[in-house]
Amino acid sequence: MTEPEYRSVTRTQYDEFAQLYYDMFKDSLREHHFDRAMIDAFAELAKGADAGPVADIGCGPGHVTGYLHALGLDVRGIDLSPEMVALAKREHPGIGFATGDMSALDLPDGGLGGVLSRASIIHTPPERIGGVFAEFHRVLAPGGLLSLSFQATDRTDALALPFDHRVAPAWQWSYQRVSDLLADTGFAEVARLVEAPEEDPVRGFHFCHLVMRKPVPENS
Ligand SMILES: C[S@@+](CC[C@H](N)C(=O)[O-])C[C@H]1O[C@@H](n2cnc3c(N)ncnc32)[C@H](O)[C@@H]1O
Repeated sequence: MTEPEYRSVTRTQYDEFAQLYYDMFKDSLREHHFDRAMIDAFAELAKGADAGPVADIGCGPGHVTGYLHALGLDVRGIDLSPEMVALAKREHPGIGFATGDMSALDLPDGGLGGVLSRASIIHTPPERIGGVFAEFHRVLAPGGLLSLSFQATDRTDALALPFDHRVAPAWQWSYQRVSDLLADTGFAEVARLVEAPEEDPVRGFHFCHLVMRKPVPENS
């Protein structure tokens, strides 16, 4: 089957920018206080749920995967870009990394206790995002946690708006509509944090962090 163009373009572009991306962002969690707060909370919840290992999907060079590992999680990273995965393996030899596509994960149903995807859904066109959320839901065990963060808008008249991203075509997402779509997929919202546009002086976008849970079915 022919691969959709958005995916081959994203892969090629991140392959090209992998080293630069790493050099620019490898220490960025230090200054992103709200990312750390939400990732820490997600990690504690995933540990408490004890529903299986965690995957960092769209992990890039693996700096967040490494952070989760340091918090004591059994974590692996998955990314579309082979160059990103090679970098992640080089920088974090104790962690497993593999190439993969978030819309068709090579993972069994219900095998994960947590999925984290930080700033990585932004390259999926809006008409395909439902398939990504269905994959996240499929691979999580009941009780498993999803941590999803993304460039966002408080508008609700569109699911997503294209923006001019340095690496590949990208969309900023209506955080309310993303939450609604995740609820339609079967997730329950645990928490959300929305950073004000002024906190991102480069782009001036909101940045949204969602933590969602795949509920345990009643009577189980
Ligand atoms: C903006 S970077 C974010 C990297 C990392 N999560 C971080 O927090 O810095 C986006 C990453 O998502 C990956 N990506 C984009 N589309 C993907 C897809 N369909 N499946 C898996 N990874 C994808 C890209 O290759 C890239 O490494």
